[in-house]
Amino acid sequence: MRVEGSNRKIAADLLAHYDVHARRLPWRAPPGSNAADPYRVWLSEVMLQQTTVAAVGPYFAKFTQRWPDVQALAAVADADLMAAWAGLGYYARARNLLACARAVANNHGGVFPDTEDGLRALPGVGAYTAAAVAAIAFGRRAVVVDANVERVVARLFAIDTPLPAARPAIRAATDSITPDVRAGDFAQAMMDLGATICTVRNPACGICPLRQDCAAFATADPARFPVKAPKKAKPHRTGHGWWIEREDGHVWLIRRPDRGLLGGMRALPSSDWGDAPDATPPLSAAWTPLASPVTHVFTHFSLALSLHHAHVGTSTTPPGEGEWWPVARIGEAGLPTLFARAAQAIMDERRQHARD
Ligand code: ADE
Repeated sequence: MRVEGSNRKIAADLLAHYDVHARRLPWRAPPGSNAADPYRVWLSEVMLQQTTVAAVGPYFAKFTQRWPDVQALAAVADADLMAAWAGLGYYARARNLLACARAVANNHGGVFPDTEDGLRALPGVGAYTAAAVAAIAFGRRAVVVDANVERVVARLFAIDTPLPAARPAIRAATDSITPDVRAGDFAQAMMDLGATICTVRNPACGICPLRQDCAAFATADPARFPVKAPKKAKPHRTGHGWWIEREDGHVWLIRRPDRGLLGGMRALPSSDWGDAPDATPPLSAAWTPLASPVTHVFTHFSLALSLHHAHVGTSTTPPGEGEWWPVARIGEAGLPTLFARAAQAIMDERRQHARD
């Protein structure tokens, strides 16, 4: 798309602001330099999808220390990678991450393709990641639209079509302001603006470098943009989870099927999650229910998981595949947040019981 004069001014104003105010983030090259490591850029962009910079920080540090380059990451066992990802959520990202690392290591000599199309052809790399890596790591002109950019652009152009129908218009508008050079800095500057100034609530328009260019600023209520279609209420589901503890201090953990929610992650055995889940335990034992369920909000539903615990002898093997994990080292099992909370609830109950 042709970049008009006024749109060129938006990029120039934003980049000038970024040169002074860019957040210093561990995967970033300083403004104006082209020195970003594609591996670190790719890893950070996958981690940052649906996840805040603050939450990603410690995971990024841990991953890059353990696996400093794409070959090292490609060599990790699936279960170790999934455990290292535990707590970050959206676990399909971790499975895709590994598939992509292996493709880069095995089919590209450990070198990331340097174009948007080449990146897009890698397994698990979607349109957003391909555009972000092409722009940030390789300085290519690419149109990078994440949730922060979406908000900034909807406001700049006062786009009042509700999301998600507004996406094509937002994309076209982002295209119209993306510069030919420094597209990576531009994308990150837009993200920084969205994260620090053009925030969801109470945007700090008074210090915004784009307020003169912003159609929403000219209205009484800039925070009205982007307009959102009314949210459907999330369905609520219930389920049962089973803490089977052997008398030598080990708990039975399973690995969830690769496909589906929390796929490939270690977990407690549990029932299906639904309206009236089957409460039959996986084995007969003297089960004790926990007084309150643990709750967790997933993207498409909320869940209340009722917990039951029982002690069994060392000759017991529960049905299906699983492993006995030392209770004292449960923190190292890489349980996703729901099951980490379930384990915590069991520990809390125990401590309470010991005190009574
Ligand atoms: N969110 C997604 N990618 C980002 C980046 N490179 N910098 C800051 N926030 C981001």
